[in-house]
Amino acid sequence: MIKEKIDISKISKTLLITIYARAIESQSENSTFKDPKSVEIVNKLDSYISKYNDPFYQRLIKRNLPKSLSQLVVLRNKLFDKYVMDFTKNNPDGVIINIGCGLATRFFRVENGQISWYDLDFPEVIDIKKQFVQETDRYHFLATSVFNYEWIKRIDKNKKILLIGEGVFIFLNGKDVKDLLLKLQSEFPGCEIVFDVNNIHLVTWQKLLYKVFFRHLNKNDLTYSDILDYIWGIRNEYELEKINPGITFIDKRVYADYRKNKNLWYKIKCCFKFYRETQYIVHYKLN
Ligand SMILES: C[S@@+](CC[C@H](N)C(=O)[O-])C[C@H]1O[C@@H](n2cnc3c(N)ncnc32)[C@H](O)[C@@H]1O
Repeated sequence: MIKEKIDISKISKTLLITIYARAIESQSENSTFKDPKSVEIVNKLDSYISKYNDPFYQRLIKRNLPKSLSQLVVLRNKLFDKYVMDFTKNNPDGVIINIGCGLATRFFRVENGQISWYDLDFPEVIDIKKQFVQETDRYHFLATSVFNYEWIKRIDKNKKILLIGEGVFIFLNGKDVKDLLLKLQSEFPGCEIVFDVNNIHLVTWQKLLYKVFFRHLNKNDLTYSDILDYIWGIRNEYELEKINPGITFIDKRVYADYRKNKNLWYKIKCCFKFYRETQYIVHYKLN
């Protein structure tokens, strides 16, 4: 049972969008994405959020998210899953640290019986997460801001480490992201990190367009502002190598390359790198 005292309204709505999107897609016909844990959690969450008279929660209960949004969330999940599985193939007993995990269920999708996993998020998020999933000897919670570096002491540095940050760094400011990368580099030399990024032009134009157009379209029921309120962006993947010579770009996965059902107009737009590479996932080694 979910504790009555938990105030779900204190957590970011975007992390509810991602788990509901996974559950919706997981249950949709012919879906290749299966996430029974997300389905199980949202079914429990429903009864709790129904107590709030908030149109956003009502939409979630009705599983009413734009198809394009839930498909994009699942595409991002699949690409991150693949990164983790590639890593665990080479490092079956490696350590994975999921920064800004929210209500992510990745551990249950990629678990190989040997990895050690840390789900890291603010205490109020982990409090809620604990209502649905329990820690084990290999699955742990770190209830802290990623910038409160005390959590680093709990990590076994003798193992190969992969850090992931899905839908997190794009909402932080650039200086904080860079400081974090330097800290991780000094604490976990030889580790790898995977996170999603936006092109800086998207961030700049989005803010402008949002002010001019989307504000009037906002029906105030799906917190478009949350989704669109990106803060940090990069010009290209090599920009982060300049922070420190030990930061080495390995590869990237561009969402546009993996999207299905591309119509002709979309294909034409994707001929332009600027458009094709507005959002992607980057992978670095920190030495
Ligand atoms: C958009 S949600 C993404 C959640 C999850 N990664 C997913 O894809 O479903 C962003 C998450 O980052 C967390 N977050 C933001 N800033 C953080 C920080 N400084 N330390 C730890 N977590 C943070 C938020 O609490 C939230 O759970």
